[in-house]
Amino acid sequence: MRQKHLYTNIKNLCGITTGFPRLKVGKQLNDFVCVENAWLLISEKGTFEQFGEMKDIPEFSGNITDCSNKLILPCFIDSHTHLIHANYRESEFVDRINGLTYEQIALRGGGILNSAKKISEISENELFELSYERLIRAIETGTGAIEIKSGYGLSFENELKMLRVANQIKIKSPIPVKITFLGAHAFPEIYKYNHEVYIKIICDEMLPVISKENLADYIDVFCEQNYFSPEEMEIILEIGWKYGLKPKVHVNQFNSIGGIQSAVKNNAVSVDHLEVISENDIVTLKHSQTIATLLPACSFFIKIPYSPAKILIENNIPFCLASDYNPGSSPCLDMKFVISLACIKMNLTPEEAFNAATLNAAAALELQYDYGSIEIGKKANFIITKPVSSLNYLPYSFAENCIEKTIIN
Ligand code: NIG
Ligand code: FE
Repeated sequence: MRQKHLYTNIKNLCGITTGFPRLKVGKQLNDFVCVENAWLLISEKGTFEQFGEMKDIPEFSGNITDCSNKLILPCFIDSHTHLIHANYRESEFVDRINGLTYEQIALRGGGILNSAKKISEISENELFELSYERLIRAIETGTGAIEIKSGYGLSFENELKMLRVANQIKIKSPIPVKITFLGAHAFPEIYKYNHEVYIKIICDEMLPVISKENLADYIDVFCEQNYFSPEEMEIILEIGWKYGLKPKVHVNQFNSIGGIQSAVKNNAVSVDHLEVISENDIVTLKHSQTIATLLPACSFFIKIPYSPAKILIENNIPFCLASDYNPGSSPCLDMKFVISLACIKMNLTPEEAFNAATLNAAAALELQYDYGSIEIGKKANFIITKPVSSLNYLPYSFAENCIEKTIIN
């Protein structure tokens, strides 16, 4: 059993909640509740026990950490990552500088297929070592819960390899990990003109084993022109549900082709990307329970539009922010930078962005009862900043590392 721990003289204790709402929409997003000059007590169980203003500090004789000039806030929740991959793709980065688009690179056999080739060549152990090191880096930048996808295997053997690695990470990880099966990330070259065969492999071969061995929590499909059509996605999501996997899907990254409608029809937990979104898509989301996941680091890196977050706010559509960490479109694990981009490029206020990257992101991983805010009883996953002038300083200082320490449990 750990001992209680008291944090004192906290310049600003931020991201406090007291129950509902567990998912913020519209104007609620501007409430990122803070207490200035605060103390925070962590219980022996590693949960938030109590907090208050320094003038009301209780008698305490255990471990004390002074946080003068520092902020404490809940850990970021990164609800969309492709943490597991075998190779970096910086040559594609240079190709884009020289004028090619992400789509053109993919059509030449780069992109996802490039990563898939490398996954087939690497051992499970080596893949684990590479990926676990990234998880540690993510935690150091303030991430306190994470989602990890497969999707660079694209065959029975290699998708399972990725999912086994993800499960090994989950077992060893100090932070909660949710795992998403993304066998439908792209069609392997041999099934380019034979989509039904690959979809059958996903549904009849991969899913039964994934379910039997309990290897995933969610199912994902990349619904996009030249990838999976909305109809193909629906077939996969329906079978996914039969195996107990809830959908969290890639839609509307480059084109609005009905992916949001198909995902909502299949009760998706989240629809991720949404760089391109129609009026009809907004109407569909407005009448759904589905959370939008916005990925500004991807927009930044491959130079595509930013999702219209302000329109989602006007329409009370819930959304969260995530890194989309992957070697092709977003080699960024740093959620603080994601928050900066959301403020600078999507015009979110810092409060809106912090809520989207903490409480709402927890909801997108169905972790909102235990994570995502400073709330009595929740797990004590939190960030202590370096000495900074204010909460606004964090997104403002967009490339500065302001995080002194990430405390887990
Ligand atoms: O979320 N768009 C689909 N999947 C990833 C990128 C995958 C890759 O380029 O390796 C994304 O952006
Ligand atoms: Fe992604």
